[in-house]
Amino acid sequence: MTSWRRFAAAAALVSAAALASPAFAQAKKPAPGANAASAAATAAAADYAERFRTVCAACHGANGRSDMPGTPVLAGQYSFYAITQLFLFREGRRNNEAMIALAKPMKDADLRGFSDFIGTLAPVPAPVPTVLPDAARMSKGLALAQQHKCTFCHGADLAGGQQVPRIGGQKEDYVRATLRGFKSGDRPGYTRAMTEALSQVPVEDLDLLAYYVANFSGK
Ligand code: HEC
Ligand code: HEC
Repeated sequence: MTSWRRFAAAAALVSAAALASPAFAQAKKPAPGANAASAAATAAAADYAERFRTVCAACHGANGRSDMPGTPVLAGQYSFYAITQLFLFREGRRNNEAMIALAKPMKDADLRGFSDFIGTLAPVPAPVPTVLPDAARMSKGLALAQQHKCTFCHGADLAGGQQVPRIGGQKEDYVRATLRGFKSGDRPGYTRAMTEALSQVPVEDLDLLAYYVANFSGK
């Protein structure tokens, strides 16, 4: 996100907070100028960075990549994608006990604040594997990803963009589970993109796709 868009989002967040809290709105005189607004936006962003460190980092890692099984990498993910998923958790439509419990009490401004913070986390490459990925499985995985147009939406570099998530280097156990979730309907997407993308993919091929995606190193 460009810095001005981040600023605009943070500024919107601040005015939403003011609207939500009459006491706050009354205590403050009308915005005295751009400097005060930008200082408030910076303070709000710092607040979500701190809340991420104290709450979310326990599972997702301070830099957005943890080793906790089943826990997705958030580093390099887009704020646009992150906010759709926090929304789905809050509505109880995406099913994970911990994430639903965390998202339930969030206001719209919280969804935006956490998502904007996630959008600032630089991609963190997967640790160098002790065993090199199997070349034959990687080339079969690539062929499947092209055949089923995964690369069309997620990009040949699997880096996604905006509401399409980065998937290259995502954790294999998580990708395996999430593809199965889309296929079975357990994970309804924000749109029908993934349900449709997987409708022609046999279940037997999902694990190979997950292997390819997780071991993809950008080359
Ligand atoms: C108890 C561990 C835990 C904590 C704490 C936690 N998460 Fe999660 N988070 C998960 C797991 C596990 C998933 C994957 C759920 C699934 O399989 O559908 C997830 C998924 C997500 C996703 C979707 C990622 C994707 O690639 O689709 C986002 C965004 C997210 N968490 C943000 C947060 C934020 C923001 C916080 C702090 C407010 C947080 N999480 C705290 C465990 C946690
Ligand atoms: C038409 C565009 C499109 C195509 C084709 C597509 N995807 Fe997706 N994909 C998306 C979107 C959009 C999402 C976000 C899910 C949502 O809507 O909630 C997503 C989500 C995902 C996720 C979840 C990432 C996360 O962090 O939770 C994985 C994994 C994934 N796609 C892999 C694939 C694979 C493998 C293929 C090929 C079989 C594929 N996608 C084809 C658009 C697409």
